[in-house]
Order: sequence, then structure tokens, then C-alpha cells
Amino acid sequence: MEVQSVQLFFFIAFILVQSYCIALDTISANHEIRDGNSLVSEGGMFELGFFSPGKSKNRYVGIWFKKISYGTVVWVANRNTPIADKSGMLKLNRLGNLVIVSGGNPMVWSSNSTVFVHGNNSVVVAQLLSNGNLVVWHTNKIIWQSFDYPGDTYIAGMKFGKDLVTGLLRFMSSWKSPDDPSVGEYSDKLDATGFPQTYGRKGDVITRRLGPWNGLGFSGFPDEKGNPIYSTDFSLNEKEIYYKFELQSSVVQRIVLTWDGKTQILQWIERIKDWIVYAETFVDTCDRFSLCGPNGICSINKHPPCTCMKGFEPKNLEEWQASDWVSGCTRKTPLNCGNGDGFWKVAGVKVPDTGRSWYNVSMTLDECEMACKKNCSCTGYASVDIRNGGSGCLLWFHDLLDTREYDSDQDIYIRIDATELEGLMDSQYNFNIRKSIIIALLLTSTALSLIFVVAYACRKINQWRHKGRGNRYLLDKKNRRVEIDHLDDLQFFSLFEVARATDNFSVSNKIGEGGFGPVYKGVLDDRREIAVKRLSESSQQGLDEFKNEVICIAKLQHRNLVKLLGYCIYKKELILIYEYMPNKSLDFFLFDETRSLMLDWSQRFNIIHGMARGILYLHQDSRLQIIHRDLKAGNILLDYDMNPKISDFGLARNFVGHDTTAKTKKVVGTYGYISPEYAVHGRFSIKSDVFSFGVLVLEIISGKKNREFTHGDHNDNLLGHAWRLFKEGRSTELMSGSLQASCVVSEVLRSIHVALLCVQHHAEDRPTMLSVVLMLVSEGVLPQPKQPAFFTGEIQIEVKSVSSADDYMITQPYAR
Ligand SMILES: *[C@@H]1O[C@H](CO)[C@@H](O)[C@H](O)[C@H]1NC(C)=O
Ligand SMILES: *[C@@H]1O[C@H](CO)[C@@H](O)[C@H](O)[C@H]1NC(C)=O
Ligand SMILES: *[C@@H]1O[C@H](CO)[C@@H](O)[C@H](O)[C@H]1NC(C)=O
Ligand SMILES: *[C@@H]1O[C@H](CO)[C@@H](O)[C@H](O)[C@H]1NC(C)=O
Repeated sequence: MEVQSVQLFFFIAFILVQSYCIALDTISANHEIRDGNSLVSEGGMFELGFFSPGKSKNRYVGIWFKKISYGTVVWVANRNTPIADKSGMLKLNRLGNLVIVSGGNPMVWSSNSTVFVHGNNSVVVAQLLSNGNLVVWHTNKIIWQSFDYPGDTYIAGMKFGKDLVTGLLRFMSSWKSPDDPSVGEYSDKLDATGFPQTYGRKGDVITRRLGPWNGLGFSGFPDEKGNPIYSTDFSLNEKEIYYKFELQSSVVQRIVLTWDGKTQILQWIERIKDWIVYAETFVDTCDRFSLCGPNGICSINKHPPCTCMKGFEPKNLEEWQASDWVSGCTRKTPLNCGNGDGFWKVAGVKVPDTGRSWYNVSMTLDECEMACKKNCSCTGYASVDIRNGGSGCLLWFHDLLDTREYDSDQDIYIRIDATELEGLMDSQYNFNIRKSIIIALLLTSTALSLIFVVAYACRKINQWRHKGRGNRYLLDKKNRRVEIDHLDDLQFFSLFEVARATDNFSVSNKIGEGGFGPVYKGVLDDRREIAVKRLSESSQQGLDEFKNEVICIAKLQHRNLVKLLGYCIYKKELILIYEYMPNKSLDFFLFDETRSLMLDWSQRFNIIHGMARGILYLHQDSRLQIIHRDLKAGNILLDYDMNPKISDFGLARNFVGHDTTAKTKKVVGTYGYISPEYAVHGRFSIKSDVFSFGVLVLEIISGKKNREFTHGDHNDNLLGHAWRLFKEGRSTELMSGSLQASCVVSEVLRSIHVALLCVQHHAEDRPTMLSVVLMLVSEGVLPQPKQPAFFTGEIQIEVKSVSSADDYMITQPYAR
């Protein structure tokens, strides 16, 4: 029982709420809206009620936005007859009219509906539709609607134009002021006396003209085709002529003729909760109606903006020169109809005032020309619709007014006298002839110069072959020229290109700091990623490094060597451009607790192999035979797939023939990786690289840096420690803990064994890289390694390395 009554209660409540909701947007014959009450459209976008604009105390019945921009008024009923107090009431009277009454006034305002309903008004209702239109229904027919009587605002769905059956003109008129919605000075009205167009007036004076619809938009206004926000619909038939805009998206726009005479399209921006001016008509000099007078043409790109049309001259030269163009232009030679006069095409215009024009939308342009030719008073013609090459016909019979240059496909053809036309044709013809002669001359001389150039080039090309191209030399510290070989094998990049690629060498693009300068990441225009090494300006090291890199790797191609893509020399700026390695370098992973977990055994073994093959290529397979001299974890770069690529050839030396040992006074390299004979005696050979390789392999397996290695039990470095474990048959203990799961013990043991062979004290005991590669892949028995090069005493090494990077400062004792 109780449940039933509760259900009943909700049912009744539901009915009540529903009927209340229905009633929200309508006024029926027996109801009225008093000041303080309102109607709300379905969806809640619009509200109708009484309001006071701005600072005014007067009361008006109006419709405003409710959901967005609360209170922005779009329509006012009694705009010229305000109510002074709050006694106003809006209701439907016995005649089916919406009327506003107030205390003392039985008829403040009336909708004056054209269909009168006699006797039974219960069939009449007024409703505020969801689009903001207030309509009066008589059964299913609209007998009156607010959209037919616009004020200063157009919202989507409202028609602008003329009903040719009833004569109703739907137009915009400004408010007097923001506080006074009564009809102000300004109006925008369709003019349908000729081909339809729109005049903007201040009082009775035409101040501006929105050109006729040309199929794509208003002539003289940007095309509206494809506008994603709104679409404008133009309709022209026997019954009516109108424009209407519909919103394409959820964006809300309204068009307002402001009280001070601006026609603006405003758009609601929810984010800032305000309207912004999306577009404004009539903004430049040439928008002033007929600024240049009859037969003048206005161009916003010219100073002064007014000129006369072809075949015309200023009517009053003095005035014209004083920038008073109102009198306009007159024919140089009067028309002598039927005597060979013709038409001159003016391309890209807003068509002249069509107020007294004649039109036919189905004629072709040829028919149009014929029609104009036949009638001696025809002064010009044009297409009505510019789409698809043009269609329809517009004819003018008077002076051409308010024409302006405008970037569009709209052309007009103006009638001028035969003699004038001849003159114009001649000058164009002469111009064309002159042009042809000039072109012919140009062609001949170009051909001749080409022959010279080709001949000269053929002679030069051989020289260039040997010398490279562009800036083939650099200036050293003393401004001496230093020639550089092999530059012609490389792509030249301009400093501009490099700067653009690296965002002007921005700090955020810096990916490293090499011994001789910073390294940046960059992206070329073709979206290739690059690494840019900018060598310290004008330092001798920079210069040497640059030469070394270019000489060494310009011609080298190996999958385990980083590729040098190009270079840039500009004044003392020396820049090398490499392929970009996304995974940085080996040390980045190897010596980091977390990142090292990402390198499993198969990847490490692959890196060891790759390095070995790369070094072998340098030592033996390449044409140049190169000793790298600075192999270390930081110089082993990793590509996307963690393949190793040897980089940094700044210290490399190439050696000739069998003389694979050299001596240098200056020991450069990196502490922890250089061999004892090089560190102590400055002797280096391919076996110095083998030594460094061995150190690298031990580092890869142990995950520890040789130079930072410490152990609780002894003072040995990593090499000594590995040797110790090897001797005791405990080599697997050298392995980094993170490899336990992924390792293949035989491979680990073999790698350690090979590494120990590589780090043997005496260079001649160490294997060549070829042997190393073979030993790594073979299953055969390996020779026993001798004691590695490690020291327990302190030995001071004199090294003069000027670089600031501590990698290059070998002033510390080699052994701990
Ligand atoms: C309605 O008609 C009356 C009488 O002709 C006129 O005074 C009034 O201005 C009209 N109202 C409107 C809104 O046109
Ligand atoms: C008025 O019209 C309604 C609906 O058509 C009808 O029910 C009612 O009887 C009519 N009243 C009079 C007085 O004619
Ligand atoms: C418009 O031109 C077409 C084609 O020439 C013609 O058939 C039609 O009668 C013309 N209409 C008017 C109103 O002149
Ligand atoms: C030329 O056109 C005008 C305007 O349409 C018209 O009044 C006049 O009769 C026409 N003249 C001839 C010869 O067709």
C-alpha cells in the first residue's frame, strides 16, 4: 500500500515537472510573462524576459543568451518604446498578437501578426525555440516570428534579405548606444534593385557596400567556401532573396552591427568566457563607398589608392591630385557605339556597384559580351558566379562605382572606345614584342655564357677533384692556411644549416662534451638526426682533431664505425656532423647500476664482437690502416639495436706499410686504457689498441671501470684482479652479478681469456685483432696469457695534454 502511494507521488511529481518543463518555453493564450519571470528555450541556450541594458533603468522585453555569455541580448521587442517601471507584462491577446502592456499603457508594443484569429485564441501559442527564435503558432502555422524583425544582432538561422511576396525586408539596425536599444544611426540592408548586394548606411548616406554573392562569398570579401565554423547560404528566386548563416560546429558566433557602426562577427571563447572579434567588415580605406568616384578603381596596395580605369582620366585633375577623388574619372575618348569599340578586362576585382545593373544567372560569358555589345549604353559586363570558370551575366549601363582591386577570380570587362583600345593593345603588343626581343637576347647570351661556363668548368673540375670543394682549407692559430684532404668525400653543411638543426647550438640539445668541444644533437631539414661536434674554436687540438677525423673516417665505411656525414667550416668554426646514436655510449650503460641491467650477456657479447671487427677493419681491412689510440667505453657508441660503433678519431694516426710502430713525445689517450709501452715510452702501435680492447672486454664483463677498480683483498687494478681470478680458476667471479641469469659461461670464460691475452705486458705477446676475432668465434684451445700490464708501484707519467676534460689528463700514476 505504502509503496503504491510513493509510486503515485513520484508519478504525479513527474507529470508536474514535465508539464512545467513544457510550459517553460511557451506562452499560451491565458498566460503572461511578468517582469521578473522568463521563458527558457529547450536546451537552455536562450532566455526571454525583461531586462535593462547597460546603465539604463528602462525595461525592455528581450531574448538573450543563457547557457553561455549570460545576458548578451540578441533581440529586443519594444526597442523604441521602453517601460519606465517593472509593471510590464508580455502576453498573447485575443487577436493572436504578442503584446506588451504596462501599468498605464494597454499597448506598449504589439507584434502586429498578419493573421488575425477571431474568437477562439486557445489555438494560438507563443514559443521560444531552441535557436532563439520567438514564434507565434496558429495551429501548425507560424504567424509571426522574431527572426523576421532583427535588431542589431544576427544569430545562426536568421535570414537577411527580402521577401519578394510580402515585401518584408529583414535587415540590421544598430542600437543608439550600449544603454539604448532604440534604432540607431547605422543600418545594413539588402538592396535588390539590381543584382542583390548590401549597403551599409549612416542615416540615409551609403557608407559602404558588401558586394554581391559570387558563388563563393561576397565579392570583395574572403571566400567562405570550406569555412569550418559557419556556412553562408545565398538564395535568389522569385519569392525571396536572402543570406543566412548556419554554424557548422559547436562554436557560437553572432553578427553585430555595433552602435558605432562596425559590422563584426563575434565568436564566443569558452576558455576566456568572452566574445572575440572573429572578423570585421569594412576596415580599410577602399571599403569607403565609392572613394575613387565614378570609373575610378581603389587599390589598398597603392599610394594614392585611387586610379582611373583604363581608357579613363581624372575628371578634375586638380582635385584628383589633391586626393579629392569624388568626381572620379571620365573617358579619354567618348564612346562611338558600334564603331569598333571593345572591352578591356580588369582582373581580380570587387565588382562595381550593382545597384542599377541587369543580370541573368543562366547566360554564359560569351552571351554576356554579346548582350553588352548590342546595347550602346552598356558600360561593362561580368560573370555573376565565379565558380567553374564563371557563369551568368551582369551588365552595367552607367558609370562604374566603387570598384576595388581584390585578389579573387572575379574579372570585369569594361567598354572602351576603339582608339583607346588600340592604344592599349599596341602598348601591350609593343611590350610583348620588346619582351620577346629581350627574351631572345637573354637566351642567346645565356647560351653563350653556358658554353663558356661548361668549358671553364671542365678545366676546373679536375683541379677540384684533388682539392675538394668549398672551403678546402682552414686557418690555424697564426692565420695560416691549412689544406685538408678528403673533404670532397664529405658533404658540406653551411653554418646556417647546422645552427638551424641544433636550434642555434642550444644547451638543451647538448648531448656531450668531448675533449675538444661540445657535442649537440640536431635534426636536419630532411628529419635525419645528427650529432654535431663543435670543435673548440681556433685551438690547435681542434684543428688537429678535425683533420684527423676527416682524414681517418671520411673514407671509412664499416658497420661498427660511426659514420661521418659531413663537415662545416666557417671562418674559425670547425664542425663535424655524424650520424646520431640514440643510445649514447657504452659507458652510459655499463657503469650505471640501473642501466647496466638493460645490457644482458648476449648484447654484451655482441658488443665485444662488434668492437673487435671495427678495430680489425681499422688496423687491417681499411685502405688507410689506422691506430685509434683512444679506445674506451665513452667512444663506443650504441645504435638503436645496441650495436657498437667506434667513434672519435681525433687522436687516431694512420700508419704506412709495415711500420706499425711509432713514437710520440706527447702521450694522449685515456688513463686506464693505454698500454704501458705507450704510457711510459710514448711508443704506440696497433697493439696499443689491442690492449685497450682487452681492458674494454674486462670492463664489459665486470661492469667496473679499470681506473676506478678497488678490491678489499689487494691493490691490483681490474686487470690484476682478473688475472688473479683466472689463475685460481675463478674467472666467472669477475662477471657482473647482473649477468648471472643471461650469461653463457663458456662465452664469458673465452672472452676473459682473450681479454687477458690482449692486456699482456709486452706488446709482442698480444694477439693481433685478426687473431682476436678468430679466437672469439672459434672453439679451439687458447694460448695461456702472461702476466698483464699492471703495476703495484707508483709511476709518475709526464703527459702534456692541454685538454680540460679529465679523460685526457694523464698526470696521475698509471697504476694504483
Ligand atoms: C503595430 O501596429 C501599430 C499600429 O499600426 C504601430 O503603431 C506599431 O508600431 C506596430 N508595431 C510594430 C512592432 O511594428
Ligand atoms: C476553441 O478551440 C478548442 C480546440 O480546438 C476547442 O476545444 C474549444 O471548444 C474551442 N472553443 C470555442 C469557444 O470555440
Ligand atoms: C536568361 O538567359 C537565358 C539563356 O540565354 C534565357 O533562356 C532566359 O530567358 C534569360 N532570362 C531572362 C530573365 O532574361
Ligand atoms: C539598353 O539597355 C537599357 C537598360 O536595360 C534599356 O533601357 C535600353 O532599352 C536598351 N537599349 C537597347 C537598344 O536595347
